[in-house]
Amino acid sequence: MKQYIIKGGHPLVGEVEIGGAKNAALAILAAAIMTDETVHIDNIPDVNDINVMLDAIAGIGGHVRRIDRHTVEISGNRINNVSIEYDYIKKIRASYYLLGALLGKYKHAEVALPGGCNIGSRPIDQHLKGFRALGADVDIEHGKIIAEADRLSGKHIYFDGVSVGATINVMMAATMADGITIMENVAKEPHVVDVANFLNRMGANIRGAGTDVIKIRGVQRLHSAEYSVIPDQIEAGTFMFAAAATRGDVTVLNVIPKHLEATIAKLAEIGCEIEEFDDAVRVVSKGGLGSTHVKTLPYPGFPTDMQPQIGVTLALCSGTSTITETIFENRFKYLDELARMGANIKVEGNSAVIEGVKKLSAARVSALDLRAGAALCIAGLATDGFTIVDDIVYIQRGYERFEEKLQSIGGIIEQVETERDIQKFKLKVS
Ligand code: EPZ
Repeated sequence: MKQYIIKGGHPLVGEVEIGGAKNAALAILAAAIMTDETVHIDNIPDVNDINVMLDAIAGIGGHVRRIDRHTVEISGNRINNVSIEYDYIKKIRASYYLLGALLGKYKHAEVALPGGCNIGSRPIDQHLKGFRALGADVDIEHGKIIAEADRLSGKHIYFDGVSVGATINVMMAATMADGITIMENVAKEPHVVDVANFLNRMGANIRGAGTDVIKIRGVQRLHSAEYSVIPDQIEAGTFMFAAAATRGDVTVLNVIPKHLEATIAKLAEIGCEIEEFDDAVRVVSKGGLGSTHVKTLPYPGFPTDMQPQIGVTLALCSGTSTITETIFENRFKYLDELARMGANIKVEGNSAVIEGVKKLSAARVSALDLRAGAALCIAGLATDGFTIVDDIVYIQRGYERFEEKLQSIGGIIEQVETERDIQKFKLKVS
């Protein structure tokens, strides 16, 4: 089993290049099949989730040509199947974006129903509500969603709850519906805007992405395009909190500071010095850090995908902090792992009360999901001694070259698989 071993206690110092946004790229790759022409996409992160999505596209006959680690060409002209097998959905939920793309283009899609995951039950009722509003018959049979329509017609859709996935999935289907679709109570995340911009580059007519109301005028066909995915604000924020937790001085490069406003505000509140540049942000955390109160909200609120990272940081800040998780019902499990490192945390419902401690103690912990895993690595880096993080396959699904990037700013971390590897690492760094 792949693990990280970390020798903590050293501040992270230096510059780290941020890659393309995983959650934008997954949706953009799905949308790329909506044209029969060739689409050229760059700045995609080289992570496992992306590779699974590309396999799913090739699996239905889409033509996928990897130009390099971060660049791919896709054309949907040879798609010969509109059914996405359970294997892909089991590996990445986001393959359900092919539902909206295939339904929009072929008026027929069959995608295995995604299950829940470690952070919550993750229903997709709002996705299906949107498809049905556009005129699709949507049935669930034998664990599969079957959506089909003679034609899709634009509608006024009001989502019951803000959902990134439903906003993107229904936006894709509406792109090739007849007439005008107005979507309200939509997600405003940067990656929603990125997908809308990409679709418009292919000839769609989408207005208002990033606001509360998206207006789409359906088009008959989409054409080739070249596109570059936005930087990953969650990867950037992860390294920014790593700087704070290790009392370091880290500059994240190739970011859009506007996307990091909520993260920057919280880092400043606990006492970090922040310096913003056009496409970089520097986080300096020399002295003691203080407490704050966080509530996760849809963008532009504090992102739920940054909740474990700030949780670890607050565990090492003086005073009493609170975190309220309003998006997912089960995103505090990492705190049990953190408590095993000596954190003083009490979870009550969807709130956690954190009493900061001066030091955590190194331990062997498990990564329960992508962001929790990255957060536990931050805890290990901030802690004297040797921390081992198990199940790092979760982390590698969404963070490209995670240990290399941490090493480049002074992190003493390596990927190991055997007890012998662990002993060799300990000898090397001691
Ligand atoms: C996306 O998930 C991201 N994943 C998640 O990132 C992120 O945490 C989440 O958005 C919120 O920002 C991708 O983009 C691939 P939602 P998504 O639909 O679209 C409820 C990561 O670490 N809901 O905005 O599934 C849902 O249960 C991952 O990169 C419904 O009730 O999130 C949740 O409570 C983790 N019905 C809330 O809405 C629906 O039909 C927000 O979910 C859809 C969602």
